[in-house]
Amino acid sequence: LLVTTTVESLRDFLKNFKQGSVGLVPTMGALHAGHIFLINQARQAYDLVVVSIFVNPLQFGAGEDYFKYPRNLESDRQVCEQAGVDVIFAPDCSELYGSATDETMRVVPPESMTRVLCGRSRIGHFTGVATVVTKLLNIIQPQGAYFGEKDGQQVAIIRRLVKDLNFRTEIIAVPTVRLASGLALSSRNQYLQPNQLDVAASLYASLQRAELLFRAGDLRSEVLIAAVKSHLSPSVALEYVELVNAESLMNVEAKITNKTMLAIAGRVGNTRLIDNIILNPSKTIPL
Ligand code: PAF
Repeated sequence: LLVTTTVESLRDFLKNFKQGSVGLVPTMGALHAGHIFLINQARQAYDLVVVSIFVNPLQFGAGEDYFKYPRNLESDRQVCEQAGVDVIFAPDCSELYGSATDETMRVVPPESMTRVLCGRSRIGHFTGVATVVTKLLNIIQPQGAYFGEKDGQQVAIIRRLVKDLNFRTEIIAVPTVRLASGLALSSRNQYLQPNQLDVAASLYASLQRAELLFRAGDLRSEVLIAAVKSHLSPSVALEYVELVNAESLMNVEAKITNKTMLAIAGRVGNTRLIDNIILNPSKTIPL
């Protein structure tokens, strides 16, 4: 397992690997079983697996958790070693952005995708994600890059980025890994107190109530959203629950007709959590 911190050393290494295929798993570290799942998928599909570990300041807003975000390169290195990763790319901030982060050029996805859902409260977040992902794809030029479905809005925006900027990388979205309670794995779960875990699990449990109705044939947005709201723990401070087209992120008005994402965000104490499920009418087998 090679750990590189500079673009130059990574590129030197990759130059000698011209014949083989490269799979990239971009991360911000604090690796958990969800990341290991992404790594395993990449390991099976590509000759060389690169994991990037970089807590990207551009995607954190003022007052968000950039400074307290968990960082532990040594334990991440061990996870990667065990999972059979070939290269870790762990640059520092100046390596990627130079000294003035605020002056760096941004990659700006369409507002119709960045200003909805999480983008309403996290101004600039998806521009920050798009910028760093563009840089990583340019530096590494992988054949495939892996992202978790838990970040459904991020996946939609990255797919759009790759299409609009003609990247040759295939974007692979991998199903969310969950605890037995249903709680989606996230590095931010580390902020939760043990007594908040059940409350946090109600995000997914409430999405599942809507899924039950959907599978029984109810496609009405209003009904599905109401089901989520009524099953959510009252201790969750709900930010939004919405039905959107899974690709364009446009709101689904009256009824679900295409592949739709039912997305939720809320706070449990100070911890902001998100989750989603995909409802696909063409794939539903009636109960
Ligand atoms: O999903 C994440 O961990 C981050 O948003 C990503 C894609 C690594 C970009 O910093």
